[in-house]
Amino acid sequence: MRYPEELIEEVRMKNDIVDVVGSYVKIQKKGSSYFGLCPFHSEKSPSFSVSGSKQIYYCFGCGAGGNVISFIMNYENYNFQEAVKFLADRAGIKLPEIEYSQEAQKKAQRKTRLLEVNLEAAKYYFYQLRQPNGKIGHDYLTGRELTEDTIKNFGLGFANITSNDLSLYLKSKGFEDDLIIEAGLATFDEKRGLQDKFWNRVMFPIQDINHRVIGFGGRVMSDAKPKYLNSPETPIFDKSRNLFGLNFARTSRKNHFILCEGYMDVIAMHQAGFTEAVASLGTAFTSGQASLLHRYTDNVYLAYDSDGAGTSAALRAIGILRDVGMTGKVINLKPYKDPDEFIKGLGAEEFQKRIDEAENSFFFEIRILEGNFNLKDPDDRTKFIREIAAKLCTFEDEIERDNYTAAIAAKYTISQDSLKKQVAINAAKGTTDYKPLDRPKSLINPKKDPDENGKKVQRILLTWLSEEPRIYKQIKEFISPDDFVDDVYKEVATKLFKDLDEGKLNPAAIVSCFEDEEQQRTVAAIFNTKLEDIDGLKEKEKALHDIVLAVKKSANEALNAKPDPTVEEIMKALEDKKALQKLSSITFHLE
Ligand code: UTP
Ligand code: MN
Repeated sequence: MRYPEELIEEVRMKNDIVDVVGSYVKIQKKGSSYFGLCPFHSEKSPSFSVSGSKQIYYCFGCGAGGNVISFIMNYENYNFQEAVKFLADRAGIKLPEIEYSQEAQKKAQRKTRLLEVNLEAAKYYFYQLRQPNGKIGHDYLTGRELTEDTIKNFGLGFANITSNDLSLYLKSKGFEDDLIIEAGLATFDEKRGLQDKFWNRVMFPIQDINHRVIGFGGRVMSDAKPKYLNSPETPIFDKSRNLFGLNFARTSRKNHFILCEGYMDVIAMHQAGFTEAVASLGTAFTSGQASLLHRYTDNVYLAYDSDGAGTSAALRAIGILRDVGMTGKVINLKPYKDPDEFIKGLGAEEFQKRIDEAENSFFFEIRILEGNFNLKDPDDRTKFIREIAAKLCTFEDEIERDNYTAAIAAKYTISQDSLKKQVAINAAKGTTDYKPLDRPKSLINPKKDPDENGKKVQRILLTWLSEEPRIYKQIKEFISPDDFVDDVYKEVATKLFKDLDEGKLNPAAIVSCFEDEEQQRTVAAIFNTKLEDIDGLKEKEKALHDIVLAVKKSANEALNAKPDPTVEEIMKALEDKKALQKLSSITFHLE
């Protein structure tokens, strides 16, 4: 179910992209566009551009791009529907209620109520922390060196020692017993009625990426067990698909996350300026959480406890990250146990150094392996080297394997030649059960799109058309949407040509035709590919001619390369040939 196209267009037009983006990102006018630091990747000089005339944004650094709706989708992490709703509210446009089944409606209402009761509970705990009864909680948090700002920022609170005051409060606010129970805030007791789940604990509200409270963790203030109690899973609290701190970390503008084990670790790191820190929710790291992180970046630094349990958890997490295509690095916290203690002990600057020195996960694995051997013993040393060789074999790319072999040989003072030989022997045997934990991407040759050159001239032409529609007259005799082979390019060209035929121009509306984020980026790129500035009319005419020729040629080549052309395609190939001939003998006139 989606809103009618005209309505989406109205919402888009009433939200000027420069205004909207400008309320999130500092942008400055430069030439015909605005520029600023890209909110979607980390950079020091601005390559993020916003065009008021095209109503499109595009980052020349990371390729993020789209119209105002895509921007809100990406920035707020909303789906298309939610982004349209958000912008409609902003512009005061009333959207029709989308009709859901009764059952779906009931579910949605229940979720809303669960969020409401959680929010009210969070406010209550927050308030209690500042009451005389809550002083012990406040003292506990400040004793752990949290500042007032940090406590506020994370909405930390306190659950009183009495076992039903939250329930009484929530009931007085009109929340029903069964809702309070379903939210996991209380249980029902035959004799005593509702009993609060959390009491005499400092409270950590757990928020989803949109800052909505979906659950709680509560910590005792002593050594009593269990140390933490967590809300149970509810319709709004899926522990395997949320991460503590992600609501802040996703806009930290670093191009990595730091994954750690505990709530306190995340809070301590954010306080020290590492706002890219997140933690799983009292359960092991899951692939759902890895996918969630992967929406934002490829890189995760692990800051797991430095003890044995932390190390095995880190090894597992690295495997999970690798499976979703991410790269893991491991931060060494020694001599401290966890990031919280590290920062208390050595401070943020030292922690930053540890990030910079974080260990590639392959090296990490070898180092853990090393612990199983006594390298002074020749037998042990031999076994260790054999195991290393077996692991090195799993790198299929030869350059990559050689690089790792050289690095490992140097690190463990093994002769490079003999290690290489051993790797070759293992490789020849073809026997290995090992899988490398992850393969650092920088060492793998990126696969280039073979059409990239052809596509680039197509993009240049389409950008040019969107900026100087008058050239359309010149080129339309030679170029048709069918000259664009890629599906997205063809669709964009079709719509753009149709608009130009009707004397219109609306690149941002063309973006809206695509709901997929990747496609929206492509469309934004199509409208943001410029030739360098060309001086002089004659030069410009010549450049345009060259580009039209290149587009036509690559289209013709693609067609000729087809093994079984249809009749239409054969006809088009003939037409193309004529057009190419004509093109070779004319010049364009831009005035
Ligand atoms: P830790 O025991 O490492 O605690 O558990 P911590 O985060 O360092 O907390 P402090 O510094 O002792 O206060 C790591 C995480 O495991 C979950 C919590 O999410 C905690 O943050 N956990 C731990 C529980 O859910 N229950 C427990 O009883 C203990
Ligand atoms: Mn801790």
